[in-house]
Amino acid sequence: MANFPVASWEHLTDDLLPSDAVIAIDGPAGSGKSSTAKALAKRFNLLYIDTGAMYRALTLAALKGEIDCSEENLLVELASSSSLELKTGRGEIGVFWNGEDVSLAIRNPEVDAMVSLVASHGGVRNIMVKYQQALGRRGGVVMEGRDIGSVVFPLATAKIFLHATLEARVDRRFKQNQQRGHQVSHEELTEELARRDKKYSERATSPLVISPDAHVIDSSGMSLDQQNDACALACLVNPALDLELDTDLETALREIPGNYRFAYAIMNGLSRFFGMKEVNCQGKAVPRGCILASNHVSLWDPPLVGSTFRRFRVHTLAKAELFRIWPLGALFRWVDSIPIKRKGFDGTAFNLASESLLAGNNLLIFPEGTRRAIGFPGPVRNGLGILVQATRAPMVPIFIRGSYGRCPMGSQLSPLEISHGPVIRWHGLDALLETTDRKEVSRRIARLCQSAFEELQARSFDRISQTDFEKKVGCKQLKKFALRQKKVFGT
Ligand code: DC
Repeated sequence: MANFPVASWEHLTDDLLPSDAVIAIDGPAGSGKSSTAKALAKRFNLLYIDTGAMYRALTLAALKGEIDCSEENLLVELASSSSLELKTGRGEIGVFWNGEDVSLAIRNPEVDAMVSLVASHGGVRNIMVKYQQALGRRGGVVMEGRDIGSVVFPLATAKIFLHATLEARVDRRFKQNQQRGHQVSHEELTEELARRDKKYSERATSPLVISPDAHVIDSSGMSLDQQNDACALACLVNPALDLELDTDLETALREIPGNYRFAYAIMNGLSRFFGMKEVNCQGKAVPRGCILASNHVSLWDPPLVGSTFRRFRVHTLAKAELFRIWPLGALFRWVDSIPIKRKGFDGTAFNLASESLLAGNNLLIFPEGTRRAIGFPGPVRNGLGILVQATRAPMVPIFIRGSYGRCPMGSQLSPLEISHGPVIRWHGLDALLETTDRKEVSRRIARLCQSAFEELQARSFDRISQTDFEKKVGCKQLKKFALRQKKVFGT
């Protein structure tokens, strides 16, 4: 049974799961994702979405149209000019391509043989991922696939990486085939599944990987019912832990001493002056002991982001150069800022930051390391992953938009908005470290943080469309910031 980090998981009840939950299930072929995803959808009254069916539908259409499945551009054109619809009913999913029901045809052996090639093209994945995100963004879904937790829904309510040994998966496929009247030997199945495992974990675009915040569940020795129960429990862990979070504003404000009160008064004044809007953080204090990871587009970001914390003892990692400017340096130290040298690895800053997190304080960082072009968050540097591995501190991703084009009383050109994402907890870290080296784990954490920024940005653009100003400035800044990145970090 999986090991869940809640004090009394026997008492987790299904009503803890919010109705707009997104459950992401990833795992290798034959791990039982589909059966469990359907069972969870039924249990929690959510919509079941099989993303593999989408790649299969495109493959079928390509085969019918005699399109070469290695031609990415032709496949992209086909996908962009066709309509794909998924309908759920009686547990099975209905797949319609240009209005035609292809639910059965997409399971043909011809499709089986070509679908992995089709799904390996970056252009195809971009289209499918956008479609999947649009289907799931309003919530209330269970989505299964290979990259749902890592790419499609970085902020999912629950992520599950379901796996089983090769032997267990071969046994299950063998029995399934027998029931369907297909005769495939154990040896052939072993060879096929091992080949598919290798292909999906090694491919360049969206490889099958454990997201560091996923619950990793090995179902090898479990019956289907046990597997479903373990996964259902995993879905309830984050909602249960969220209930335990201390975000009470009144208590947090009572604890704030004079120096912080002064700093918050200035920061609040600034955010009001610029007409800043808060999303998912208004009227709350940030939970304790978290890494508060924000994207960075302007020198105004630290005070504006800081104004949303309302909590005593938020250490901030700030570039060492700033501490040499009088009286800025003294002021920064007064409110717990830690100077960090940006070139190479600054062990002193890292140790101070880790100790502070382990003591239950918060840490604000801008993990991109320097300002980035607006509209293009990331890449996130590996320092975040090193910090996470040393402390296991949960992370709240924060997205700031509009601090670059800010205007007194608000800007039409670029609305000033700060949104906090959900608390990300590193459930999968230990399992990941068993098979993956620390550097690669840091890269995965960085990649997840970048995806979280991208998702928060997409939600912001859903609320207020990206403006022409933002598009133009972002494109101009791209080159300039790439050069700065090189200058600052030497990479
Ligand atoms: O789960 P399935 O066998 O129906 O998936 C069909 C193919 O699509 C399989 O080759 C894996 C691929 N796939 C993917 O690359 N990404 C997803 N999110 C889902 C499926």
